Amino acid sequence: MKKSSDLRIIVLGAAAGGGLPQWNCGCLNCTMARDPGSAVRPQSQSSLAVSLDGEAWAVFNASPDIRQQIEDNRLLQPRRLRHTPIKSVVLTNGDIDHLAGLLVLREKQPLTVFSTSSVGEIIADNPVFGVLDPDLVARRSVVIEEAFSPLPDLEARLFAVPGKVPLFLEEGEPDLNVEGENTVGIELRAGNERVYYIPGCAMINDALAARLRDADALFFDGTLFTDREMIATGTGRKTGRRMGHMPISGDGGSLDALEGLNIRRKVYIHINNTNPIWRAGPERAAVENRGFEVGFDGMEIRL
Ligand code: MLT
Ligand code: MN
Ligand code: ZN
Repeated sequence: MKKSSDLRIIVLGAAAGGGLPQWNCGCLNCTMARDPGSAVRPQSQSSLAVSLDGEAWAVFNASPDIRQQIEDNRLLQPRRLRHTPIKSVVLTNGDIDHLAGLLVLREKQPLTVFSTSSVGEIIADNPVFGVLDPDLVARRSVVIEEAFSPLPDLEARLFAVPGKVPLFLEEGEPDLNVEGENTVGIELRAGNERVYYIPGCAMINDALAARLRDADALFFDGTLFTDREMIATGTGRKTGRRMGHMPISGDGGSLDALEGLNIRRKVYIHINNTNPIWRAGPERAAVENRGFEVGFDGMEIRL
């Protein structure tokens, strides 16, 4: 059979905001990640890179670690003097772990930044992003569910998923599980392949489950294994749901919600440094036994 596409997806950063290890954290995972002799490897913050030809790349979310991610992935490096194979950046929300990398991409390089208009407003409202020369860096607002092309022949759509406003825009108790422009997933189509990237999701409702059915690959919010993990590890006061992230396990967790949807590759990404799936143990085994993979920096999927 003729291969209809050569879609390549590289996990540039598998960790959630803060990375692994996080600068101010001495939890078990972070301590292991700092020990070169342990089985836990450091992981950078939340991003994927996608290409159809290995030459032109789109980056999904601009992680604060993007400089190192480019150095770690030869395919993203310049082919000549002052060049980048990165043609576009697509943003799924306005969180720091997804926006801050734009500031790293400020050296007079043409590229296009795609986002919803709500996320675009966050960038427009913060003068620091003016370092991206508007003559070179195009900012494109994308309407939810409208097709656009971050690369030639790659069809993408942003779709609303339950979530909340970015942490730094919270005023009092935010509305949770709101579906709008603040938190989106990305649907990619190339040839016969259909792939999803959803690094933040508060809940999988029926509409989202129906959308994901029979997908070729899904990169999904694996922030916390249990909803109360930050509280239980003494690292924070919030539940995962309060942070806009559904847990992997337990009632209403993603392990159950994604069961039976016939998704070919299910990969957890945006994994918080407290999450026990970073290390060998019953939680990681539970995830793998249910047919999920634990994402890691440099993981590549070719479809
Ligand atoms: C999140 O995913 O919840 C955010 O990255 C949190 C943050 O911005 O620190
Ligand atoms: Mn995040
Ligand atoms: Zn930690």
